[in-house]
Amino acid sequence: MPLMSLFGSKGRLVLGTFLLYAIIFELACCQNDAQEQRTSPGKKANKPKLGKATNKGPQAVTTKPKVKATPTTQAQAFLSQVLNRGKFTKVGDSISVQAGDTLELRCRGKPVHWGVPLYLEEDDDGRLKIVQHERYGVLTLVNTTGADTGEYTCYPMYCEDTDCRKEYDKAVKVFVFFPDPQELFVPSSDYYEVIQLRTNWPTVLPCQVTSPESKVTLHREFPPMEVVVDGTEISFNVKKGFTIHRPRPYHAGALYCVASLGNLRQSSTKYMLIYVNYPMAPPAPVIQASTSSVAVGENLRVSCTAVGEQNVAIEITWEYPGQEIGRPLYTQDGVSPVSGGAARQQTQSVLLVDEVRDVDQGTYTCTAQNLQGAKSVSTNVKVVPKTKPKKP
Ligand SMILES: *[C@@H]1O[C@H](CO)[C@@H](O)[C@H](O)[C@H]1NC(C)=O
Repeated sequence: MPLMSLFGSKGRLVLGTFLLYAIIFELACCQNDAQEQRTSPGKKANKPKLGKATNKGPQAVTTKPKVKATPTTQAQAFLSQVLNRGKFTKVGDSISVQAGDTLELRCRGKPVHWGVPLYLEEDDDGRLKIVQHERYGVLTLVNTTGADTGEYTCYPMYCEDTDCRKEYDKAVKVFVFFPDPQELFVPSSDYYEVIQLRTNWPTVLPCQVTSPESKVTLHREFPPMEVVVDGTEISFNVKKGFTIHRPRPYHAGALYCVASLGNLRQSSTKYMLIYVNYPMAPPAPVIQASTSSVAVGENLRVSCTAVGEQNVAIEITWEYPGQEIGRPLYTQDGVSPVSGGAARQQTQSVLLVDEVRDVDQGTYTCTAQNLQGAKSVSTNVKVVPKTKPKKP
């Protein structure tokens, strides 16, 4: 992991100024619950191992959640923080632990499963230790850096013999900031990040700060200017970064965040925002055959049309009775503007069946697809015997 080799080796811990923090997650545990979720029942690897110290090796599975759910706040659950061993104070949904110090989280339950920020999950350089005691689990992270900033979750487990389930609805999470005097932003391994701005979809610029005290502003590279963050069009969340709620083409370009704390001022990684015309909904195609009953030898046309936003591509594909025997059909495709109303366009595909044969009888289906999804419509065509032009 490049991230780990970059940040795991820093080792800012100064022995002697070692502070111990512990957050106690007090949870009602291990009752039967209708909303429990199973974690691969029967698989030995998911069996929580009591007393195992690290997440290295196969025993580590309990520290690596495959599924993360958004837990709901439980009435019984509360958080407290231990300062100077033994003195408890309740904590809110976030805490700060100075980078270099040790984070210690405790969660009541036998056993519990821990969720940690993604990069720690992938490789923690041996700094992360998870111990299950009889009645509670302890997560210890030593030699911390700003890169460890993120969400830490405790999932109580409900077990029957070797079969354990995470109780997602009883999970407790805390966002931990690791204020780092040298790194105001959680370091990124990339010099810049490309982000798609999709029409009407919120876009997040994930410039995550290591200290909740930082003042963070958003900036545009060209022309150089600070971007107005009004809380409506663009908002800031100290645990997430900036969100552009309804992207527009003018939001595109190179942006970056600037954090200031005390005398320190730092820029984040660069975000290249690319605007993509994104449809509001999947297309709604309409299919129509030139006739529902066609005589052998005559020509058939089946048209499929879908109206959508201008400059948003819709792809039309066909399924037809003669397909299986490789009947060669061809289509005439085109896009034309729709008169009246807002900027809309019609995409049309016409399937041409020349000199109809018996095999052409059946269901014709067209599927229209855009970036939001696909929709199919069908029509039936009956093939009747050749009409005799002359009668004896
Ligand atoms: C933490 O840092 C100290 C001092 O640099 C080092 O000796 C120790 O091995 C580190 N511990 C871990 C688990 O990385």
